Amino acid sequence: MGDVNQAGRARESCMAKAMSKRAHGQLIPISLTINGALSEIEVEPHELLLDVVRERLGLTGAKRSCDVQVCGACTVLLDGRPVSSCTLLAFEARGREVLTIEGLAQNGKLHPLQDAFIEHGGFQCGFCTPGMILTAKTLLDENPDPTEEEVIHFMQGNICRCTGYKKIIESITAAAKKMKKK
Ligand code: FES
Ligand code: FES
Repeated sequence: MGDVNQAGRARESCMAKAMSKRAHGQLIPISLTINGALSEIEVEPHELLLDVVRERLGLTGAKRSCDVQVCGACTVLLDGRPVSSCTLLAFEARGREVLTIEGLAQNGKLHPLQDAFIEHGGFQCGFCTPGMILTAKTLLDENPDPTEEEVIHFMQGNICRCTGYKKIIESITAAAKKMKKK
């Protein structure tokens, strides 16, 4: 994953840690857009975005794994950029747009990245896959024709224990080609 991407995640993490030291128990009303729909909820100051999407909203695509902003399994897009939802306070997402893997398919049609991961065997257990695909979406939105080196660099914040990455890189490259043809 790119340096800007890593720096953004680190900034969000520092803020999350500082905020989590505040008193528990007080509820804060927030509104945010999740997968295109406005959601109005009350969150505790220390509540993490990962817990809100998984436990409150039933969007279980984002996974908890390392819990310390290293693996990328919990990745969601915040205003189009990947963030580690395991270290981002839900409060910090107020007024912003969150995309989880559940919101990527449109009108029952998978995103080309989802198709490509299936077609090219870009996953085995699939635990890392939602985060991989969302990070790759940002890459292709910002750089529709990345080189293999650019793909590898941008995806550095997403770890897979299964595939050895070759098929993941192939999947992203294939999706880029397919999207360019449209
Ligand atoms: S669970 Fe969030 S980065 Fe690993
Ligand atoms: S497919 Fe299993 S961790 Fe990536």
